[in-house]
Amino acid sequence: MKLHVYPNSSQTLAGCAEFIAIKMAEAIGLRGVARIALAGGTTPKALYALLARPPFAGSIDWQRIEFYFGDERAVPQTHPDSNYHQVQTHLFTPLGIKPEQIFPMISDPMQLLGIEATRYQHALERWAAGGVPVFDFILNGMGVDGHFASLFPDTPALHERARWVTANPVPQHQTERLTLTYPAFEAARTVCFLVTGHEKHAAFCALNQTEQPTPSARLVQHRHTDWFIDAACHHGPSQTPDTKEFTA
Ligand code: 6PG
Repeated sequence: MKLHVYPNSSQTLAGCAEFIAIKMAEAIGLRGVARIALAGGTTPKALYALLARPPFAGSIDWQRIEFYFGDERAVPQTHPDSNYHQVQTHLFTPLGIKPEQIFPMISDPMQLLGIEATRYQHALERWAAGGVPVFDFILNGMGVDGHFASLFPDTPALHERARWVTANPVPQHQTERLTLTYPAFEAARTVCFLVTGHEKHAAFCALNQTEQPTPSARLVQHRHTDWFIDAACHHGPSQTPDTKEFTA
């Protein structure tokens, strides 16, 4: 894993945005298109708002990007908890991204989750050339329990290897979610975690845990990942001044 550590959350966001710009340009230059899977959560939300403003609004070739999702909640596209709704509000609408570039996990109107998972699997298979879909870039946040996307500890999707996307019961949140599965994360060209705040320090330290590894630890121990983190996440609360800058 490669660590990109910054003094505070806003500089971490800026570093991550710069990294995305570089990776998108690389993919578009080589293949004419970039396929990115986005995350939900408050940290990624702040990143989307940054990407939708200058300089990133004008420096990334947004029209050549296809937007997918790493996971989604079992709610309609218009619901405030929807990851699609969050990205639509903070990134797609401000940048004028065309609907044909966007691949939400949940349809409008929403279908049964099993049907949505099958539909998304087919959408990925359309460009996966008969194998595992190779995303150019997958953005993840990480929960304090070490989950990423909707791969939560002790949930069935952790063991799914035949499908790239599945419905996953998450008893921790009394809900079911859609999530990409490990094969999709393992195959991606770049997997980037954006994690800030001292409350994530314990989950960050657990990444090298081999005894009952967290979902994030399992991925980190299996393939290269890039981590954009602030000092608070890296060092924990002891060395962290109280200010937490956040440009939402
Ligand atoms: C979701 C996300 C989830 C999120 C992490 C981190 O649907 O909520 O995909 O995996 O990225 O929980 O969220 P925060 O950045 O808000 O802590």
